[in-house]
Amino acid sequence: MKHEAIETNISLMIILVVVAISFGTLVELVPLLFDRQTNEPIAGLTPLPALALEGRDIYIREGCNNCHSQMIRPLRAETERYGHYSVAGESVYDHPFLFGSKRTGPDLARVGGRYSDDWHRAHMHNPRDVVPESNMPSYPWLFENSLDAAVTGKKMAALKKVGVPYSQADIDGAEAAVSGKLEIDALIAYLQQLGTLLRSRR
Ligand code: HEC
Repeated sequence: MKHEAIETNISLMIILVVVAISFGTLVELVPLLFDRQTNEPIAGLTPLPALALEGRDIYIREGCNNCHSQMIRPLRAETERYGHYSVAGESVYDHPFLFGSKRTGPDLARVGGRYSDDWHRAHMHNPRDVVPESNMPSYPWLFENSLDAAVTGKKMAALKKVGVPYSQADIDGAEAAVSGKLEIDALIAYLQQLGTLLRSRR
């Protein structure tokens, strides 16, 4: 029987399994590459300003995404708590994506504007000062480290190569926008713009 031939030949079995999985992957993946809904930015989306871009890099460096997702699922419990569910067009300029799935802390996809800058400062310096039961780490060094303004423009130029529409003026102005700022300023600038284009929370 043909089926027995496959089941008793591990090499053939492996090859056929790989073919089957690859085909399934292509069927799921290829349409998304051409689907406008997943490729086109939502109305009003702009690339991150220089300071917020540096903040995003600090967010990645500190591993904030290990405890915080940026992906609100289209489920009632999620939209009641966090606001409008996440759509693909909000993150088309994100390289890499920070969707995440681990939620030790709350989702941050729409945290922009929810708290004041001062709240974030206090919270980042020591979360227990504002949320007594918090188990989030403290990040006191962000208040001492300054940013390396010389590299921000280069980061933007690199992102431009992969399709993020930074203008030459954005790139030229990056150094001035970032110089003299501390890491905490950049991180808060990043947090305060998260998800603010699509609001409608309750
Ligand atoms: C070990 C897990 C962990 C890590 C790492 C972590 N957090 Fe948190 N975060 C939490 C928890 C738990 C809470 C909820 C309690 C609180 O507000 O402190 C929280 C809350 C927050 C909030 C408030 C969200 C809200 O809607 O109330 C913000 C903003 C935040 N974290 C940002 C960050 C940033 C930025 C980083 C990286 C510098 C980070 N977190 C790293 C666990 C973490």
